[in-house]
Amino acid sequence: MTAEIIDGKAFAADLRARVAALVPAFREKAGRPPGLAVVLVGEDPASNVYVRMKGKATVAAGMESFEHRLPADVPLDELIHLVDQLNADTRIDGILVQLPLPGHLDEQAVIRRIDPDKDVDGLTPVSTGRLALGIDGLVPCTPLGCLMLLEDQRGDLSGLDAVVIGRSILVGKPMAQLLLSRNCTVTVAHSRTRDLSSHVRRADIVVAAVGRPEFVKGEWIKPGATVIDVGINRTDDGLIGDVDFDGAASVAGAITPVPGGVGPMTIACLLRNTLVAAHRNAG
Ligand code: GUN
Repeated sequence: MTAEIIDGKAFAADLRARVAALVPAFREKAGRPPGLAVVLVGEDPASNVYVRMKGKATVAAGMESFEHRLPADVPLDELIHLVDQLNADTRIDGILVQLPLPGHLDEQAVIRRIDPDKDVDGLTPVSTGRLALGIDGLVPCTPLGCLMLLEDQRGDLSGLDAVVIGRSILVGKPMAQLLLSRNCTVTVAHSRTRDLSSHVRRADIVVAAVGRPEFVKGEWIKPGATVIDVGINRTDDGLIGDVDFDGAASVAGAITPVPGGVGPMTIACLLRNTLVAAHRNAG
């Protein structure tokens, strides 16, 4: 069996076009474009690239981009002061503080400060609580993108066994909540999980978000399963996912490639969340 390759790049391009097509109506209603502020602290090369891509995509969708770059040694109170200013700025509908932050900064203190109505990353305690309670709210972009690809590929996910590998606040935990909201039976595996392969073997859906190249082996995959690879690992051989792609593709029903799978969905969902937040904030 050879897996269908899930074309996240095409799906994301379509989502971005659909969001962009809805922006003029918002401009008409609010008398301004939707606004997204992105904050980057320090010089991490990968984060730099992501932030540049987010800014370009925002403008391409007809939205206004506000980019703030702060030095790596910025004190916590200065960063929090900037978040307060962005919270108060009526041109701004969404705020994203690029993670990870340098070690001396308390990430949770910064995230907590973001106005939940502008939390397009879905990371504040209020957004996290809404997701856990099944209340409408802003959902983290990468897991939201994974869910869209899964539902596009499999339709109703009800009753399926899903294994999420990784328990980060950005991907693993919200992914598990989203799958649970779609009536999957969800297992969250992590670095202390015993006999990971036995869990993966039972799964109709595998979401790998561990950040280790080719960590998930092809022989673990249940025939016909859908495999979503969130990993973007920079190696000497280029970008490599968390899943042994060739091995998994020979047994899975469908699989996302790296690059061109989940990656492009994150920015598309960020634009979608910004437009949703803009409509809610503009009343
Ligand atoms: N770093 C990697 N992915 C993300 C993301 O989706 N949001 C934020 N804030 N930081 C990230």
